[in-house]
Amino acid sequence: KDTKDSIFEMIDGHGLPFLWKQFEGLVGLPAIPNMVQRMRNLPNFVAREEDIWVFSFPKCGTHWIWEVASMVINGKAETIPVPKEDYFVEHEDLASLDSKPFPRVLNTHLPLEWIPKDVFTKKNKIILVIRNPKDAYVSLYYHMSGMKRKNYEGTWNGFFELIPQLMEYEKCYDNWMYYYKAFWEYAKQHTDTVLALKYEEMLKDPVGHVRKIAEFLGKPIDQKLCEAIAEKCSFDHMKKAKQTSRVAGPEGEKHAKPEEKVWRDAAHGMYRKGKVGDWKNHFTVAQNERFDALYQEQMKGSDLTVAFEI
Ligand code: A3P
Repeated sequence: KDTKDSIFEMIDGHGLPFLWKQFEGLVGLPAIPNMVQRMRNLPNFVAREEDIWVFSFPKCGTHWIWEVASMVINGKAETIPVPKEDYFVEHEDLASLDSKPFPRVLNTHLPLEWIPKDVFTKKNKIILVIRNPKDAYVSLYYHMSGMKRKNYEGTWNGFFELIPQLMEYEKCYDNWMYYYKAFWEYAKQHTDTVLALKYEEMLKDPVGHVRKIAEFLGKPIDQKLCEAIAEKCSFDHMKKAKQTSRVAGPEGEKHAKPEEKVWRDAAHGMYRKGKVGDWKNHFTVAQNERFDALYQEQMKGSDLTVAFEI
């Protein structure tokens, strides 16, 4: 199946429930139950001074960095027994977030304008994770087609056609350029509270990045612990360790559900490939040219650089 003309027709034609929800002009919110109500309540979020955040566009390494930051905070290289979704503001009600032990490592894919103001007032520490958009969109394609409850049935070519259409919605949960253009500017002006990390760089030097995160969070750490955390958070280790751990149930149900049951088959999953450059196995030459042109146009005026290969 290939895509039709508009995002909303595409939703009907392809079962893309992730684009169903809209809230105050922000399109493309994930179809999580009570999402609109949760968004409505979000401005009332009360931050604590010690809150830590992972901000990222979907599929840019959120689970990885959330795990690293949580281990750093715990001071132990031990797999975190709860899913990062428990700390995902799109997924959890304010009362549930409030009940978490402190310091909390929260996470969200919401664009800058939708971040609750108290996060900035309380000067929360923010780790901004950036990954090149070609790999991020390929990963998103597998997320949408592999996750049972999202169940996108279209092809990669069909999904690719969605990307320029997403760009037409400036305020869009799934518009990489809109997301990072704004956050990059913010990060540059707030280096005391924001640590911007790049997925491609982290893969090259995971131990160095654990250290960077620990220093940023003000947690003393020795080389041995840095190495142990990097190892426990390596793709291969997390894939194995997290496969049977609890994740959120379908449609946000609170049932315990092993990660492996959420996905269509073993080829899909939250821990799919974990590489740089998988986009080359998906983008045609023509798609790549179109994407590059779109990227140039959309990122005009931004000095953010990303690596498309390493
Ligand atoms: P791929 O689909 O390209 O493999 P998010 O956590 O933001 O949803 O991002 C998921 C992407 O990060 C997936 O990319 C996943 O494989 C990758 N990933 C998850 N854990 C990782 C790790 N420990 N190291 C490197 N990449 C990881």
